Amino acid sequence: MYRSHNCGELNITKIGSEVILSGWVQRTRDFGGLTFLDLRDRYGITQIVFNMATDASLCEQARNLGREDVVQIKGNVVERSNKNFNIATGEIEITAISIQILSKSKTPPFTIENDTDGGDELRMQYRYLDLRRDEVRDKIITRHKIGSVVRNYLNDNGFLDIETPFLIKSTPEGARDFVVPSRINSGQFYALPQSPQTFKQLLMVSGFDKYYQIVRCFRDEDLRADRQPEFTQIDCEMSFVEQEDILNIFEGLIKKVFKDIKGIELQDFPRMTYDQAMELYGSDKPDIRFGMTFNRMNDWVQGKGFKIFDEAELVLAINVEGAAHFTRKQIDELTEWVKRPQIGATGLIYCRYNEDGSLKSSVDKFFNEEDLKSWADHCGSQPGDLILILSGKTEKVRKQMNELRLEMGNKLGLRKAGDYKCLWVLDFPLLEWDEDSQRWFAMHHPFTSPKKEDISKLYDDPGAVRADAYDLAINGVEVGGGSIRIFDKVLQAKMFERLGFTPEQAQAQFGFLMNAFEFGAPPHGGLAFGFDRLCAVLGNSDSIRDYIAFPKNNSGRDVMLDSPSVIDDKQLKELNIKTTI
Ligand code: AMO
Repeated sequence: MYRSHNCGELNITKIGSEVILSGWVQRTRDFGGLTFLDLRDRYGITQIVFNMATDASLCEQARNLGREDVVQIKGNVVERSNKNFNIATGEIEITAISIQILSKSKTPPFTIENDTDGGDELRMQYRYLDLRRDEVRDKIITRHKIGSVVRNYLNDNGFLDIETPFLIKSTPEGARDFVVPSRINSGQFYALPQSPQTFKQLLMVSGFDKYYQIVRCFRDEDLRADRQPEFTQIDCEMSFVEQEDILNIFEGLIKKVFKDIKGIELQDFPRMTYDQAMELYGSDKPDIRFGMTFNRMNDWVQGKGFKIFDEAELVLAINVEGAAHFTRKQIDELTEWVKRPQIGATGLIYCRYNEDGSLKSSVDKFFNEEDLKSWADHCGSQPGDLILILSGKTEKVRKQMNELRLEMGNKLGLRKAGDYKCLWVLDFPLLEWDEDSQRWFAMHHPFTSPKKEDISKLYDDPGAVRADAYDLAINGVEVGGGSIRIFDKVLQAKMFERLGFTPEQAQAQFGFLMNAFEFGAPPHGGLAFGFDRLCAVLGNSDSIRDYIAFPKNNSGRDVMLDSPSVIDDKQLKELNIKTTI
């Protein structure tokens, strides 16, 4: 027997018992007559004590142990004289009877402690060691717990967990595919799924009615803190449902996760249309933990001779409560910040509403105090507030203002960790125009249903067609999204045509789905949550990497495996792949 107990479970109720523990040496402390050893496993740390007076050779053995050696210790549970109430085992210690070294460890490349001395790259290279650290390990355990809550909820609601293939077919829509060469079918390639979208729709045609899968998805896209090339979705689909049914069941899922994992009872989620979100926040995933919504200023600022405003398509202002104390230097810094290429604004105008009721702007040459007062009234400003204004082309200025709003939220501490605000964003546009390829693309995916009342606009005014598509944003993060699907072959064909596919191309790419729709397709819809993102949001983490046991770095590399890597000529030959390198 390697152990009778784990390193996190012994307490004063076990005093007097003889126990066997196994684990890693966190550290040893030598006080001459006594040597203390902290023994660690996944469950916690237990203090072991060795007494020079009672067993000098055992004590010597303990002193010679190195950090991270794996040992088995037999001993007796005794009450500690110097109790540590911060840890579960802090009221007891084990007086050792014997030690057995199970496995020696080299000196680890960084300390396995909360405050580690290891840099990012080194910790990624030795990820299996980093995973021994409490905070890293706890996140992976939390992920497991969230997954269990999700599975239980979906199982209890009649969803079936059904696996779908990973070796599928490349499609030109969406992000770039990762492809896998086929040895048996020379010159041909599989693609790894960006999501199981078409399969879950086929499962609805098959009659499974409610499907889910916690499933890996693959997308060859530019990486960011919230994007990995392989990531996990909680992927769901239901038949005979309308948007409302889907929002209800999945709002229930998120509430259940928050309740069970965080002990937080979330109120019903507010809803907003995509158009409202863009007008008020300049984002389709607004962080609604704080206000600072946009005010359209065109009617208040144009026609006064200030060219920049007069020529702008849109002039937007945010009112920053209590920020009139911002110094000139701070505002100059903000101006530089919005002018960085990542934001791309040409400048920033401000209007300070001083505590004494006077108003001062950076464009006083063009606007008198009465004008400024009308701005303040329009923006709902009070003495002590600061108004920040950006202007330009609608889409650009909204994006820039969104960034500025979030930055001000950060600066003023309004994006509080532990405060969770969920928001459904509804009625996304069906299509978006791509300047580069001069064509319409499906904003969500080509299987999303247009709103019935907008179908007639598919050709006359494609940009105005709204979809039965919805996203869930939590604290400004897009945690999930989905839609009601097209289930009619004729409408699906029309959609492909609108996206610029010839009937032959549509048949070649998606014939399997359109053909399936000829055999009795039920009305259906669904959604997918980004599982990694959900975990990171719950844990107030900016990076989803923290919640993935073996993530890739920002260049898509696994630095531990040193992958991707070249493969040898023999493999290439078998795959019939010629390289130019
Ligand atoms: P969508 O493409 O919106 O929808 O993806 C659903 C959710 O997956 C997460 N996500 C990612 N997470 C980490 N890294 C990535 N690279 C990444 N890309 C997406 C996001 C997103 O909201 N099949 C549809 C869903 C449906 O219609 O049912 C789909 O994949 O949290």
